[in-house]
Amino acid sequence: MTSTRTSAVRVSGLEKSFDDLHVLRGVDLEVAPGSIFALLGSNGAGKTTLVRILSTLLRADAGSASVAGYDVATQAADVRASISLTGQFAAVDELLSGRENLVLVANLRHLKDPGAIADDLLARFSLTDAGSRKASTYSGGMRRRLDIAMSLIGDPPVIFLDEPTTGLDPQARLEVWDVVKELAGQGTTVLLTTQYLDEAEQLADRIAILHEGRIIADGTLAELKQLLPPAEIEYVEKQPTLEEIFLAVVGTESKGSR
Ligand SMILES: Nc1ncnc2c1ncn2[C@@H]1O[C@H](COP(=O)(O)OP(=O)(O)OP(=O)(O)O)[C@@H](O)[C@H]1O
Ligand SMILES: [Mg+2]
Repeated sequence: MTSTRTSAVRVSGLEKSFDDLHVLRGVDLEVAPGSIFALLGSNGAGKTTLVRILSTLLRADAGSASVAGYDVATQAADVRASISLTGQFAAVDELLSGRENLVLVANLRHLKDPGAIADDLLARFSLTDAGSRKASTYSGGMRRRLDIAMSLIGDPPVIFLDEPTTGLDPQARLEVWDVVKELAGQGTTVLLTTQYLDEAEQLADRIAILHEGRIIADGTLAELKQLLPPAEIEYVEKQPTLEEIFLAVVGTESKGSR
């Protein structure tokens, strides 16, 4: 469907071991530019490992990967200039205000007019009113929005979000979802990892499930739903939920079968 030439992220036969733990055993995936791609997997499946390889923090043992057209192994500097990475642990400095955090990053990246960049991002992330307050006074959702805003400084075409909403309350999750949708709407490619199946269902154009070192399912939600027959007919035909598909493909018995 997507031509290889135009993929924002392309991964082929990627392998990674830690000592004798063979975490990635030949991962293949492709992310189209401007789309949201969700990588699902259980704890320890290797999601963070894959994201770290794609963001050049870690080297693969075998296989290849490119981001924004650059090879992660041989063109690491170009990859780094094309991405941002937001991990589970926010890079926000608690002692600084939201605005000061943004100005700091813009300065670190040697951008012109850091103040204007900060004000623009505060407005985009609905943080203008809180901009002059210390980040330590922010709610979890505000902090995560600030963290994502910081990662956007310099307009990277590809952004990696490793579990962007873990630990957030439902309202804060919705706020982050809005931000992610807006990013993709503006043409940024988003690869996110999540353990929340509804998050993938809500956000992603394409969903992949990483299990035992490989991508065992990859497609649009509609395509993944075709992996399972529709549930029994009551009054209307019920489509399987992503949770049911996930449990079926990773081979775990679904609790409370209908
Ligand atoms: N630097 C490392 N050294 C040794 N083992 C590691 C290292 N990094 C990750 N691992 C192991 O590799 C496996 C995959 O870890 P990874 O963090 O990629 O999983 P994950 O899918 O991100 O899990 P989670 O959902 O808990 O974040 C785990 O068993 C982990 O313990
Ligand atoms: Mg992880």
